[in-house]
Amino acid sequence: MNVRVLGSSGPRVSAIGLGCMGMSDLYGPADEAESIATIRAALDAGITLLDTGDYYGMGHNELLLRDALEGRRRDQVVISVKFGALRDPEGAWIGFDGRPAAVKTFVAYSLRRLGTDYIDIYRPGRLDPVVPIEDTVGAIADLVKAGHVRHVGLSEVGADTLRRAHAVHPISDLQIEYSLLSRGIEAEILPTCRELGVGVTAYGVLSRGLLSGHWSRDRALTKGDFRGFAPRFSGENLDRNLSLVEALRVIAEEKRLTVAQVAIGWVLSRGADVVPLVGARRRDRLTEALRALDEALTPADLARIERAVPPGAAAGERYPAPVLAHMDSERGAARAG
Ligand SMILES: NC(=O)c1ccc[n+]([C@@H]2O[C@H](COP(=O)([O-])OP(=O)(O)OC[C@H]3O[C@@H](n4cnc5c(N)ncnc54)[C@H](OP(=O)(O)O)[C@@H]3O)[C@@H](O)[C@H]2O)c1
Repeated sequence: MNVRVLGSSGPRVSAIGLGCMGMSDLYGPADEAESIATIRAALDAGITLLDTGDYYGMGHNELLLRDALEGRRRDQVVISVKFGALRDPEGAWIGFDGRPAAVKTFVAYSLRRLGTDYIDIYRPGRLDPVVPIEDTVGAIADLVKAGHVRHVGLSEVGADTLRRAHAVHPISDLQIEYSLLSRGIEAEILPTCRELGVGVTAYGVLSRGLLSGHWSRDRALTKGDFRGFAPRFSGENLDRNLSLVEALRVIAEEKRLTVAQVAIGWVLSRGADVVPLVGARRRDRLTEALRALDEALTPADLARIERAVPPGAAAGERYPAPVLAHMDSERGAARAG
């Protein structure tokens, strides 16, 4: 497995990471045994970066990781944990807490659920609008000093917040949506990461399944599936976006690749400082995703791909408007498209 280094201060990780969210939340029911088998298959294939959040299934995702990692060497896996989102027993999103005392409480619970005595990368899932980022990152820096956390990451923040946070403690990586359909980070956020030596862990590389080549209009969505509220998956937007997928499919088939492999390969081509997280929930999806590492796309391929799906081609925003309005990464010039 190829490795990449997350920023100038971060850990070495596999060139593709596994995002475990969909095994517990947001993408409809997942099979627990298959989820565990998928995580283990990822480790066996050389994936070292596993991404989770304490709020994915309200602790379920961390407990799943604990089971999957049983018997594995702790030092061979890099566990990235997001914290801070507040949810009620029905799973509704009811706020965010980035206060230092909350950070220290969240980490204590995560360590217990994960069955480990340290977290490799710890990050607030979003910016708490009423807590200065210096305070939140300062609390994580205390956890680094105490040995509970190894590296500090961020998620979905804009360039100004990134600079302020990085001044308090080096940031290993910014986790943010980046794909052929979501290129907004290229204007300001990605250059700022590069200037500061901060890596990017890209999520939504398959645009939550839309860019996988396996999505169709008839796909049934269960209650609570994010895609039931996502503008890119609704009405005419979906038709327009699926026509972009068909344009990619022509290129993929000529290369004997799948649409998902082309979409992942494109993100891999953006630079050695960008690590795609793939949201595979089953071993067959994982196998498909990992094959993207086997064949680098040529400059001619990349040019064709970008003609098929030029910047700004996506129909609809990446999150519903009320959600976007609260995302730090979407402020000012830093719109993540
Ligand atoms: N920081 C943040 O705000 C944030 C937000 C979202 C996600 N994340 C992280 O990023 C990770 C990736 O999530 P994502 O939504 O960004 O993932 P994604 O890879 O863009 O989409 C995952 C979806 O695509 C489908 N899919 C189809 N073919 C696939 C293939 N070959 N490989 C992988 N998935 C395939 C998946 O499985 P099915 O077809 O089986 O449904 C799933 O529904 C999450 O697990 C989470 O750790 C972070």
